[in-house]
Amino acid sequence: MSENFIFNNITKKFPLILAIDTSCDETSAAVTLGRAVLSNVVASQTNIHQPYGGVYPTLAKQAHQEKIQPVINLAMKRAGIDFAQLDAIAVTLGPGLAPALEIGIDQAKRLAQEWQKPLIAVNHVEAHLLSVLLKRKSNNLSIKNLLIKRKGLSEIVINYSKSSSSLFPVLGLVFSGGHSQFVQINNFGNYKILGETIDDAVGEALDKVGRMLGLGYPAAPVIEKLAQQGNSNKFKFPLPMTTVDDFNLSYSGLKTAAHRLIKQLELEKKLSSQTILDVSASFQQAVFRHLIYKLEKLLKNQEQRGVSSFTQAWLGGGVAANISLRQDLRKSLKSHHIKLRTPFEKRLCGDNAAMIALTAGYKINYAEKNQLQTEFKNLDRKPNWQI
Ligand code: KG4
Ligand code: ZN
Repeated sequence: MSENFIFNNITKKFPLILAIDTSCDETSAAVTLGRAVLSNVVASQTNIHQPYGGVYPTLAKQAHQEKIQPVINLAMKRAGIDFAQLDAIAVTLGPGLAPALEIGIDQAKRLAQEWQKPLIAVNHVEAHLLSVLLKRKSNNLSIKNLLIKRKGLSEIVINYSKSSSSLFPVLGLVFSGGHSQFVQINNFGNYKILGETIDDAVGEALDKVGRMLGLGYPAAPVIEKLAQQGNSNKFKFPLPMTTVDDFNLSYSGLKTAAHRLIKQLELEKKLSSQTILDVSASFQQAVFRHLIYKLEKLLKNQEQRGVSSFTQAWLGGGVAANISLRQDLRKSLKSHHIKLRTPFEKRLCGDNAAMIALTAGYKINYAEKNQLQTEFKNLDRKPNWQI
């Protein structure tokens, strides 16, 4: 059934989509109409993983299993729609934790089968890259009336055809717990990775050093708070990869330096609450300094070669919520005449299904037919799916 599903023009522009994401440690379901978020439910598992200092796959799977149905039902209820009204169902196929992905995919297949809806497979990193394009639901939006005849929708719901194609190429910046990439977005579905981490992701490095400081899991948001009260010049960290000509990142050296520093402070009995603030501030600054250094290098290189001058940068991923990172990026990009765009609210930076629904909407509009529809039975998780 799903391969033969044809979207008419109006549903293409304003698709009503239910999306599911269970790629890591959040169980999420969301409904979008056009690019507007009607509901976005995120059930976090951080309490469960806290004692382990990281995500424990078996427990993640179990928690997804317990939460998935109530989360979907709540997303549908908040959106004020029923399953029969949906144009499509979307689900994250990867990248992510295989046992976790499986739960969302099974649910999506089951619902698509039951309600005879097309099922759209979405890449989680692509969704982070496009998350700036989500729109807040207008208060004037009465879903019931609008769905009867999707007329006049363009005034209150931003449609897909009115979107950002003329801006391409756009510089995509994705920094999360699993990914850190500089991406050239040539068009929807057409991406070129310009640089990426060769070891830890930015969020992962912050989480690991935060764990060494006893800040729990995930530690990166705690580091952000502590850093505001600490002295970022108190401890010196190296600037990695300065002799390497590419635009890749590496956090293993900084992590080792932080480990050594913390051990030394412990040994000297100097790991006071003030020192923890100062280590947080100094380490966070070092992490972002490396990222900005490589970004500058990339932009200068592009300018020298006269290739693709970006006018916009789209920022996504859990670390994108960090205010210092946003400030550093904004400053650096401004000097290259590039405008930084961030998602309309912070919770859209972290894992959420609204960005999965949005990306599915772009696929309905822009993907080649054979890329869009997937035979249910063959749909399987892709834990290492590259954009
Ligand atoms: O995108 P995301 O929710 O999940 C992945 O796809 O990985 O990103 C999670 C990462 C974690 O490492 C988390 O500690 C980090 O984003 N994070 C932050 C902040 N909030 C979450 N990092 C820095 N500052 C924050 N405020
Ligand atoms: Zn993510």
